[in-house]
Amino acid sequence: MDLRSVVILVVVVVEICWTIISVNSNLVFEVERRDFGWNSNNLSEMISHDVRRRGRFLSALDLNLGGNGLPTNTGLYFTKLGIGSPSKDYYVQVDTGSDILWVNCANCINCPKRSSIGIELTLYDPRDSKTSDSVYCDQEFCTSTYDGPIPGCKSDTQCPYSITYGDGSATKGYYVKDNLTFNRVDGNLHTTPQNSSIVFGCGAVQSGTLGSSSEQALDGIIGFGQANSSVLSQLAASGKVKKIFSHCLDNIRGGGIFAIGEVVEPKVKTTPLVPKMAHYNVVLKDIEVDGYVLQLPTDIFDSGNGKGTIIDSGTTLAYLPSMVYDQILTKVLAQHSGLKLYLVEQQFTCFQYTGNVDSGFPVVKFHFEDSLSLNVYPHDYLFTYKDDIRCVGWQKSVAQTKDGKDMTLLGDLVLSNKLVVYDLENMAIGWTDYNCSSSIKVKDASTGVIHTVGAHDISSASTFLIGRILTFIFLLTTILNSLTN
Ligand SMILES: *[C@@H]1O[C@H](CO)[C@@H](O)[C@H](O)[C@H]1NC(C)=O
Ligand SMILES: *[C@@H]1O[C@H](CO)[C@@H](O)[C@H](O)[C@H]1NC(C)=O
Ligand SMILES: *[C@@H]1O[C@H](CO)[C@@H](O)[C@H](O)[C@H]1NC(C)=O
Repeated sequence: MDLRSVVILVVVVVEICWTIISVNSNLVFEVERRDFGWNSNNLSEMISHDVRRRGRFLSALDLNLGGNGLPTNTGLYFTKLGIGSPSKDYYVQVDTGSDILWVNCANCINCPKRSSIGIELTLYDPRDSKTSDSVYCDQEFCTSTYDGPIPGCKSDTQCPYSITYGDGSATKGYYVKDNLTFNRVDGNLHTTPQNSSIVFGCGAVQSGTLGSSSEQALDGIIGFGQANSSVLSQLAASGKVKKIFSHCLDNIRGGGIFAIGEVVEPKVKTTPLVPKMAHYNVVLKDIEVDGYVLQLPTDIFDSGNGKGTIIDSGTTLAYLPSMVYDQILTKVLAQHSGLKLYLVEQQFTCFQYTGNVDSGFPVVKFHFEDSLSLNVYPHDYLFTYKDDIRCVGWQKSVAQTKDGKDMTLLGDLVLSNKLVVYDLENMAIGWTDYNCSSSIKVKDASTGVIHTVGAHDISSASTFLIGRILTFIFLLTTILNSLTN
């Protein structure tokens, strides 16, 4: 992994790419229409059918996590999903900053072939699955995703998808429908496989960090955004789950907890989600470092117009407007004017420090609407690069909002080692410091029974770090003097 590429998958822009259909003829996926049990393949029909079966389960699901959000590790978290019949395993990045699930498909262009994460990559081939079905451009899923009919849509044209992520990488392909197998929680630390028909993207062309040159390659991405096209929304629409999920990303041991369902323990205080946003936006009021509240223009996090601060598990670090970054760094390093700062990989501000950072540096506290705070400890924002070299995880914004404002984007750097609950039923999000190697208690909404969901780490035992870190030590250069002046 190139350290520069840890800025993974920031913001998703679903460019509604009509060109896929109308212009770029080699990207038109026309296949013979196959009719399955649902006949018209109509989404509302499928939903009403599922709703009739509602009592069957409105349960909690347990997603097994792997990976580690540290920039010196994989810089991301992933989960394993079973897709198709017979079911095959796919490893996909867990991303709350985007919506849809997609996986690399057979015959795709520029798909990665191997991964340094230590997982076996698998291409999804609809022809290998008895339950796979096509999704056409005139079907409800497609027209509602694109907010209307697609120009030039013919009844045998497959529904296209095209996503560009915040780091410029992109994926294109077409939607398919198949069975997804999940772990339904039906006992303490116990699950049973359960499947559900889900529409997801079949990746045909990949680029940027999603392409074949990517080292920490995965089979795809599962978005946990709010759009109706997300797996969570589809499961909720068919009456299978409540729209509540939580994660506890463990950057100490790797993996962690990821559950769909209402969390009853630990109790988590929440802040409202800004409505009608493409991301999980919250209202950041102020930032406190070492008891000092940063002096910032009142509109810097401009939440009044519904912009706010984005919470995103698919981003490795935390991005702040320059003015915020400068003030935080000045405060954080205030007691250490003698430190010699280095720039590593043209991105990280680093220094040598042998002591315990938690006693030498202050906690950074973000205060949100409804008095919810997010405490970021020195061991979180000062990651160990190598031996006694510590690097600052805070970054200056690289993305702007439409009106040119620097975005505030809080990723794994600040979300790790906390239980983060996304309660879309009540449009709120909350968190609490938590031991992500332990367990939480979730409620099965159909039976009211409470079960324990534990931590998992499906990361491969093989390490992928040592060589790379040693290699980069040569890039240490003294460029910066001191920011504390
Ligand atoms: C999906 O569920 C159905 C009904 O419970 C079952 O018959 C089928 O074998 C399951 N498929 C997979 C791949 O587990
Ligand atoms: C999403 O689904 C909900 C309920 O199923 C529906 O009321 C809403 O209109 C849908 N939103 C869009 C943008 O299609
Ligand atoms: C976190 O929980 C795990 C599993 O229960 C336990 O082994 C570990 O000691 C705990 N860590 C801390 C810091 O309490």
